[in-house]
Amino acid sequence: MQTRLTFLGIESSCDDSAASVVRAGDRAEILSSVVEGQVSLHATFGGVVPEIAARAHAERLDACVERAMAEAGVRFADLDGIAVTAGPGLIGGVLSGVMLAKGLAAGTGLPLVGVNHLAGHALTPRLTDGLGFPYLMLLVSGGHCQFLIVDGPDAFRRIGGTIDDAPGEAFDKTAKLLGLPQPGGPAVEAEAALGDVTRFVFPRPLLDRPGCDMSFSGLKTALLRARDAVIAEKGGLTRADRRDLCAGFQSAVASVLYEKTRRALALYLAENPAIPAFAVAGGVAANGPLRAALEAVCAAHSVQFLAPPLRLCTDNAAMIAFAGIERFRLGQRDDATLSARPRWPLDQTAPAMIGSGKKGAKA
Ligand code: KG4
Ligand code: ZN
Repeated sequence: MQTRLTFLGIESSCDDSAASVVRAGDRAEILSSVVEGQVSLHATFGGVVPEIAARAHAERLDACVERAMAEAGVRFADLDGIAVTAGPGLIGGVLSGVMLAKGLAAGTGLPLVGVNHLAGHALTPRLTDGLGFPYLMLLVSGGHCQFLIVDGPDAFRRIGGTIDDAPGEAFDKTAKLLGLPQPGGPAVEAEAALGDVTRFVFPRPLLDRPGCDMSFSGLKTALLRARDAVIAEKGGLTRADRRDLCAGFQSAVASVLYEKTRRALALYLAENPAIPAFAVAGGVAANGPLRAALEAVCAAHSVQFLAPPLRLCTDNAAMIAFAGIERFRLGQRDDATLSARPRWPLDQTAPAMIGSGKKGAKA
């Protein structure tokens, strides 16, 4: 039986200011989860502006914490620790969270645990479904795309990933090229649902090469060319053109993820034939057709498929509180020397991916 622990979690690595209280014993319970997005603050810039994000976090985080504590109905005396995202992410935002958490820990005497934002995503299926180790995870977000074998709260092995853009980034750029709002994922998905998937057939990069690495930057270029060809021919884009381009793009991403997941599963199952479990996390996992493609590949191999509910796929602080509890159970603690890290690979032994995470901030 696990001792019951209650943690406050704080997240501020990109454009969501978030705080949450999670209680975990044998099962985990989210007592509150406050997420304040900043989409409107960055809308006119076509992407997240780090300085604006950092200032907004600094202004809002303490109110998020107050709300999370009130909604959970707990006082600091009821907590066992404070977990905070210490990286990777936009350094100004991460610093805002780390400074706040350090102040709260110093003021209350509670233990402080720095959490890797990616570990937060990767451990989410344990928070939501109590999934045991090991499992294969596809972490697919605005800044990351990697297959990880998760052996423990602090044991991640990367067996493949993108060599350039992350899929979320490709969705965001596609939206930008087609004049759709940011974040691009939901907008492109909505357009794609109404489009003709057969009209534009985009390349499926790296499918011809063995292994689980992926590439999405060529896809973006192909989309740009197709868009420009339509504009050159007709003088502009109709709604139908835009929908068809979105449908073609999304279908190419789905095919790549399907095939690479099939290969990653084969590698994972060769090692762990008795524990067939696959989980997906990160903002892109919110995409219906992509989820369906991943579900299909799992079904074809009789592998359990887990995807967190949408609000826990995207950035939130419940995953940080929970990952903090997992680290704390391993005896890991931080102190006032905890530093904010812009880059922090989960698998420290894997070679750096060429060009991956060049955006570096989103996860
Ligand atoms: O994990 P997340 O909330 O934040 C970080 O990347 O840190 O993921 C955000 C990313 C954005 O690039 C967004 O466009 C993408 O996830 N996204 C989607 C969808 N919803 C969010 N991509 C495709 N389809 C969606 N429905
Ligand atoms: Zn994230």
